[in-house]
Amino acid sequence: MTGELSPIDKAKFVAAKRAADFVEDGMRVGLGTGSTAAWLVRCLGEMVRDEGLKIRGVPTSTRTAELAREVGINVISLDEAKWLDLTIDGADEFDGDLNLIKGGGGALLQEKIVATASDQMIVIADIGKEVETLGAFPLPVEVIPFGWQTTQALVEETLISMDVLGRTATLRMNGQTPFITDEGNYILDLHLNRIGNPRQLAMVLNQMPGVVENGLFMDICDIVVVGYGDGRVELRDINQGTIEHDRLDFLESDNLFTDLAD
Ligand code: A5P
Repeated sequence: MTGELSPIDKAKFVAAKRAADFVEDGMRVGLGTGSTAAWLVRCLGEMVRDEGLKIRGVPTSTRTAELAREVGINVISLDEAKWLDLTIDGADEFDGDLNLIKGGGGALLQEKIVATASDQMIVIADIGKEVETLGAFPLPVEVIPFGWQTTQALVEETLISMDVLGRTATLRMNGQTPFITDEGNYILDLHLNRIGNPRQLAMVLNQMPGVVENGLFMDICDIVVVGYGDGRVELRDINQGTIEHDRLDFLESDNLFTDLAD
């Protein structure tokens, strides 16, 4: 199975596997959404099964909840957990300050609530997610379906005075119908190309009545674990100002891939 993984999947896997080392017995862990976070959930499931790891997991989407249960993780709600020791999630982009764009999978609202309710947030990503300036990836913004076109127009008008290069907002679709989030909302994807002042943009967007939340995660992430296709991983800790290098042995992981392949 390992041989069938693309370099990008290997990169995602090694990042997830290395981040799983941060998870300790008794922790309440926020479980992210997306293909990289799915590897993490599988790794944790393996640790629960084979090493008797005892954790409670708070998923950030219905699909992560399903996968977590499938691999044997004890799933609880955020309100049951009240507070989390650690959240591990993927990202669509991260910059040198470990600020993020998230929501490519449409789960940004639960992801932000969960990450913000955690002592620590670790992002797992392949090296392709690193950017100098956020914004090449369209910025997801969750909006209330009521009057969404009015909200879209207001967002586009507001973008005129923002430090961005593109100014269109498109409704995310799922085939012929709008994509619906776990909270029953819509997603507007903002095609900005470059976000000069993400902090300002995040604040301005969230002041609009129809906007529920935006996909800019500012000052939330503590550590990024970057994975490479050849098994190398790099841990960047923004609080400590450190960078650690590591390498994962793929042979050790063969069983994991075989057991838990989709
Ligand atoms: C989900 O809504 C997103 O925030 C994901 O974390 C992000 O899109 C990364 O997904 P991948 O790991 O699939 O690239």
